[in-house]
Amino acid sequence: MGAPRVTVLISGSGSNLQALIDARDQGRLPVTFVNVISSSAKAYGLKRAAKHGIASQVHSLYKYKKGIPKEEVEQCARARIQFEEDLAELILKDSPDLVVCAGWLLILGPTFLKKLRGISIINLHPALPGAFDCTTHAIEMAWLKCNEEQKPIVAGCMVHYVIEEVDKGEPLIVKKLNITPGGETLAEYEQRVHEVEHVAIVEGVIKALQQNGKL
Ligand code: GRF
Repeated sequence: MGAPRVTVLISGSGSNLQALIDARDQGRLPVTFVNVISSSAKAYGLKRAAKHGIASQVHSLYKYKKGIPKEEVEQCARARIQFEEDLAELILKDSPDLVVCAGWLLILGPTFLKKLRGISIINLHPALPGAFDCTTHAIEMAWLKCNEEQKPIVAGCMVHYVIEEVDKGEPLIVKKLNITPGGETLAEYEQRVHEVEHVAIVEGVIKALQQNGKL
């Protein structure tokens, strides 16, 4: 059996992709990255993939929705379905054992999930299970809650399986962080989240592959 095949979905800087590549290069993550797919052509993560000789592609929702007025609800919905179908095709042609959303900012809807049935998908979310679901501002929201309410809170990040209900899939890895009012700036808290995310994403990939009998 060869090394498990992993596809990584990104949208931005790709520091979590980098954490995965580093872990592989250091012998801590015995996988092959078969493709990196970015929802944005501007994502710096694409450069990281290229630097490490990993195939990459851009799959942009914007291209599908371009020219469709927002009030054309049905046409928008059809464009979204086509986007998801094509994304699934793009992924399936590499026969991955696992798909990892590492800073991927788009919701993966039922059309996509149905086509990927049988392949596990995991996602990194910068909040604890049940806290700040369905938002791309979870880090800021946790820090603000603590500082506005002037009460210490426990926040953090998790890696979870992707299911239809956004950010509600079974958690694989949970990392907790304490936040105290006035204890640090938002940028400092953000930095702490990213540090634990880089550990969590590697642990999450290993655990998912083990649970699925691929490692
Ligand atoms: C991470 O904080 C992730 O949890 C969030 O987006 C960020 C992605 O960072 N959803 P990067 O692109 O991996 O650097």
